[in-house]
Amino acid sequence: MSQDNIQSTLHEDRRFPPSTDFINGSALSSSKVNELNLKSKGDNQEFWAQQARTEIDWHTPFETTLDSSNAPFYRWFPDGQLNASYNCLDRQLEKNADKTAIIFEGDAGDVQHITYRELHAQVCTFANALKAQGIAQGDRVIIYMPMISEAVIAMQACARIGAIHSVVFGGFSASSLKDRIEDTQAKMVITADGGHRGGKVIELKSTTDSALNAGCDSVKSVIVFKRTGHDISMQADRDIWWADAEKGQTSECEPTWVDATHPLFLLYTSGSTGKPKGIQHSTGGYLLNAITTMRWVFDIQNSDVFWCTADVGWITGHTYVAYGPLATGATIVIFEGVPTYPDAGRFWDMCERHSVSIFYTAPTAIRALIKQGDDYPNSHDLSKLRLLGTVGEPINPEAWMWYHTVIGKERCPIVDTWWQTETGAHMLAPVPSVTVTKPGSCTLALPGIDAAIVNQEGEEITTANEGGYLVIRKPWPSMIQTVWGDDQRYKDTYWPYFDGKFYLAGDSARRDEDGYFWIMGRIDDVLNVSGHRLGTMEIESALVANSLVAEAAVVGKPHDVKGESVFAYVVLKGERPEGGVDNELTQTLRAWVGEQIGAIAKPDEIRYADNLPKTRSGKIMRRLLRTIAKGEEITSDTSTLENESILPQLQGKA
Ligand code: WT7
Repeated sequence: MSQDNIQSTLHEDRRFPPSTDFINGSALSSSKVNELNLKSKGDNQEFWAQQARTEIDWHTPFETTLDSSNAPFYRWFPDGQLNASYNCLDRQLEKNADKTAIIFEGDAGDVQHITYRELHAQVCTFANALKAQGIAQGDRVIIYMPMISEAVIAMQACARIGAIHSVVFGGFSASSLKDRIEDTQAKMVITADGGHRGGKVIELKSTTDSALNAGCDSVKSVIVFKRTGHDISMQADRDIWWADAEKGQTSECEPTWVDATHPLFLLYTSGSTGKPKGIQHSTGGYLLNAITTMRWVFDIQNSDVFWCTADVGWITGHTYVAYGPLATGATIVIFEGVPTYPDAGRFWDMCERHSVSIFYTAPTAIRALIKQGDDYPNSHDLSKLRLLGTVGEPINPEAWMWYHTVIGKERCPIVDTWWQTETGAHMLAPVPSVTVTKPGSCTLALPGIDAAIVNQEGEEITTANEGGYLVIRKPWPSMIQTVWGDDQRYKDTYWPYFDGKFYLAGDSARRDEDGYFWIMGRIDDVLNVSGHRLGTMEIESALVANSLVAEAAVVGKPHDVKGESVFAYVVLKGERPEGGVDNELTQTLRAWVGEQIGAIAKPDEIRYADNLPKTRSGKIMRRLLRTIAKGEEITSDTSTLENESILPQLQGKA
């Protein structure tokens, strides 16, 4: 662990208490929140047990709250049984059957409302179709879909029959899809012919075909939803249209009751080394925190229209699109397209037309929209909004203030929510009716969450504003269960220090005088591009896999919209291009990385050098490369460099 980046420079003195109007309209009073905090600080396990009894409909109630006998493989509610889909859908039927569950809007503006009754029927019908295709409890199913209602229906249908879904973001390449299929040994892929984004057709079926043609013997069938209607090829013995798979199936499907510890899903996320990790989540504990955070952080109420703009390919789209809001009976918005099509007013236009009251998006989207000017938001009626949220990376105070004034009209609290794929749900976030917010801070730990900043010895740092490692000291219900198929990697990645006592988040952070958390960055070689984690190693491996490339090093460079951009230094097998630039080659390598991983990982800039800066012991000097990428002056000692003459090449000066 290196501590040289743990140093804080940000000072922010503005304070934003919730308005009286918000407090009066909130479901959570400050006394209720105090009670939650007190209880959780008393008997933490009993606190979660009570929440679990209240918030979840159990088929078999649990008797054991937490099994720590095989730590760090903590198992919550191990003898309880439930079904996630039952908790999302069936239990809404009594009071909310005719309430809108999903407001879907397509890229082209087509709108569809689905009630809880209809959603329940569609999920059951599709669940029966999955069974008819031979999918049973514990089988893995890959979902590679556009952002349409059917993606959620597919997830819920898997949950209903105890199949383990693994959603792959529709922007990922055939090669990334193949890796995930092979790692999960999935029996089925659910996809669509394609999707629409920004007026263009996104290929999904043909990408699936490329992945499957490259191996993936575990896959026995592919279900294809017809979304675009463009030409695709169907393989007779393997592929079946969604509508055909549903033929003859009834809309009744008894849920499969599973243990609380049964994996609900796997979701792949990048690490600093190796291939993406299949983060395994439980059913009971996961669902519990999806629900509690919907109440505590989003203050969800029956009249709310809740829009989380994340794609179901990310954890945010799992917890705050597919599960949390439905389990709390909310109306959600699902949007297929992009924020800038047909123009940069799309989000605000949709907020107005669908009367969105809670809006949750990423700082990168906010920054992109700020650039488009205030006329877009100002020409829409945003008066239904009452709460705003952000996730994915620290939000810079200027973007926070814009969100607060131009979107929230100084009326809506902003919940800056810190969490991770691995944590399953919000960990550090304001309770909007209670917490005074500060632009740029994710504020405090939620009830039941024991977060701290520690030094290398695992001792809590109590000096205000001194940076350290963000850790969670007590297990929490929605925590990662393991890395799929790799228990050792789970232990090594998340519990490597402090005698395996604390969960290591991989972020550095500080706490201010009021105990507020400020996230400072990652402690490993992981980039945060547009709110998504990318391992530098992964991109380097992709580059090196190209026959022209001998060696590559990738670092992040601060970017005013994406947060970080991908900056690559490449050593070619052949001659270095004259002057260190070759636009054609750069385009080729960018496209190559796009094919290997997905467009999100394409290097924004590439510099060519005769070799990479290394220490005498052969370690790439990443800090030096980051300094050069930023265009900053080199102040560190470069005398240990094997070949100092490459510095001007790396700087693009030779
Ligand atoms: C990493 C997790 C959880 C959904 C989105 C990303 C960063 C996330 C915040 C925030 C500062 C944040 C952290 C974290 N991050 N939210 N509110 N403030 N940083 O999920 O891909 O699992 O990435 O995103 O670095 O470790 P993910």
